[in-house]
Amino acid sequence: MSLFNVYPLNPIAITKAAGSRVWDDKGQEYLDMYGGHAVISIGHTQPHWVKRIEDQLHAIAFYSNSVIMPIQEELAKALNEISGKKDFQLFLCNSGAEANENALKLASFHTGRKKIIAFKKSFHGRTSLAVAATDNPSIVAPVNETNNIIFLPFNDIAALETCFASNGSEIAAVIIEGIQGVAGIHEASDAFLQAIRKACDAHGAVYIADSVQCGYGRSGQFFAHDHAGVNADIYSMAKGMGNGFPIGGILIAPHIQPKFGMLGTTFGGNPLACAAALAVIEVMQKENLIKAAEEKGTFLINALKNTEGVKAVRGRGLMIGFEMEAGLEDIRKVLLNDLKIFTGEAKPNVVRLLPSLAITMEDINLFLTGLNSAIQRLKQNAA
Ligand SMILES: Cc1ncc(COP(=O)(O)O)c(C=O)c1O
Repeated sequence: MSLFNVYPLNPIAITKAAGSRVWDDKGQEYLDMYGGHAVISIGHTQPHWVKRIEDQLHAIAFYSNSVIMPIQEELAKALNEISGKKDFQLFLCNSGAEANENALKLASFHTGRKKIIAFKKSFHGRTSLAVAATDNPSIVAPVNETNNIIFLPFNDIAALETCFASNGSEIAAVIIEGIQGVAGIHEASDAFLQAIRKACDAHGAVYIADSVQCGYGRSGQFFAHDHAGVNADIYSMAKGMGNGFPIGGILIAPHIQPKFGMLGTTFGGNPLACAAALAVIEVMQKENLIKAAEEKGTFLINALKNTEGVKAVRGRGLMIGFEMEAGLEDIRKVLLNDLKIFTGEAKPNVVRLLPSLAITMEDINLFLTGLNSAIQRLKQNAA
C-alpha cells in the first residue's frame, strides 16, 4: 500500500533528534531552526519530557472522558498559572484545527449566532469550520464552503468597525492569529487587537485568539495577544503544547458556561498527552523559556536586520520571518543541502524560523554563520 501523497517531501528521513539537532538515517546531523513546524517548544527528546511520558505509560496510557482524570486538573492548574489567565476553563483536544473547530462551535453555542469574522491570509486548520475560516480557497472543499465567514483585511480597524456596525447582532466570533504564521509572519497590531476586544464587547461577540502557532511562549509572552494588553474570550493552542506529543486545547473565559455534551472527544485530554503537556510547562518554568524566547529572538531579529542580502525581517521572539534580496531566493535549498540547516517557509518567498525555545546561543550563532555562507555561495554562483 502506498502513502496518500499529499505532502511535497524533502528526500531526507529523520530518525533521531535531541535538543535543536536532528539526524537522518545515514547519520548526517542537521540544525533544526524549523522546530518541526513550531512544534518543538522545549527541545527534541528533552529528558524530563521523555521521563514524564514514560512514567505515565507505566501507570495508565488511556481512559475515556467518562471518569475523573486528576492529571487533566493538574494541567488546567498549571496552564492557569503559566498563562496568567487565572479563572479560565480548559477543554482538551488533539490538534490545532480541532482546537479552532471547538472554539468556533462554542462561540456559536454561546451567542446563538452564525457569522464569523476572519482575516485575509489567515490559516486556522483543515477541518470543516476551521478551513472555512482559512483564507485559502485551494484547501476548502465544496462541502466546507459557507456564507457564514466574513473575511476582512488584516490590521484594518475601519473595516472591522464598519462590519460590526452593519452586522454586529449576527457576529458570533472574531478569530485572529496574534502573529499570522502561514501567511509569512505578520503581526496583528496592538491597536487592532484592542479594537477587536472593544467591538466584541460592544456587540456581544466572542474574541478567539488562535494561538496554535504564535502561542505557548514562542513570541516572548505566553500568548502573542498578550503583547496588546487584552484578554481574548477563547485561546486555541496546540503545536508547542506537547513538544511533539499530539495535544490541543482551548482556554475559555469564565463567562462562557459549559453544558453536558456541548463539546466532546474520545482522545482529547488522555493521560499520556497531559503528561507530555505538563512536562512542557515544567521545563518552560524551570528554564525560564518564555523570557529566553524574547531575548534570543530579539538578538536573532537584530542580527538578521544587519545581514546583507536579507530584507523584510518580521516577527517577535522565536517566531521570525524574513525575505531575501533578488538572486538569493534559493537560500533555503542551500541551507538545507549544503549547510545542513532546516528552516521553514511561507509562500512565495519567506524563510520562517520557528526553533525550539530552548535553542542555545551557540546554535543561533551557528545558524547566522551558516546563513552568511549560504549567501556568499549564492552570490559566487551568480557571479
Ligand atoms: C495558526 C494556526 N492555526 C491552526 C493550525 C492547525 O493546526 P493543526 O495542523 O494541528 O491542525 C495551524 C497549523 O499550522 C496554525 O498555524
